[in-house]
Amino acid sequence: MRSSAIIAAVASLAGLASASALPKFDQHAAHIAYTYTNGTYTKPFDVPTNGQAQKFSSNNIVVSDVFVSPPFDGRRYVLTQCSFQAPSNKSLGAVSIRKPTTVPVNPPAAIGYVTCKSN
Ligand SMILES: *[C@@H]1O[C@H](CO)[C@@H](O)[C@H](O)[C@H]1NC(C)=O
Ligand SMILES: *[C@@H]1O[C@H](CO)[C@@H](O)[C@H](O)[C@H]1NC(C)=O
Repeated sequence: MRSSAIIAAVASLAGLASASALPKFDQHAAHIAYTYTNGTYTKPFDVPTNGQAQKFSSNNIVVSDVFVSPPFDGRRYVLTQCSFQAPSNKSLGAVSIRKPTTVPVNPPAAIGYVTCKSN
């Protein structure tokens, strides 16, 4: 009796541990990285998908591609629209994606702001 209670307790602890070890899916942020014209790229950063312009400056460095990974709800990627603005707020274009996608910035340009919105 006693040992089976201990085994049950250990098993439920193990269950808790493996549940908390699951990756934490961020349902409310896209992940974006910039690729410079020389081919180097930034670490991905989190962009909230709240439809608000967020300052994610490339520090006036010209960007040739943007990698965009939409939020993941635990089962699938969420359809997400992202638009990009120059530091002057000039529009650099927009994408609508439902999987991680590399988007060319054409012509390449410095980025000042990113606005993302999920359905
Ligand atoms: C590429 O350009 C970035 C931004 O100017 C710079 O930080 C990086 O060191 C450059 N990498 C190479 C390999 O030249
Ligand atoms: C561009 O838009 C952002 C966010 O809406 C704003 O904070 C910033 O002042 C604007 N910059 C210019 C140069 O208009």
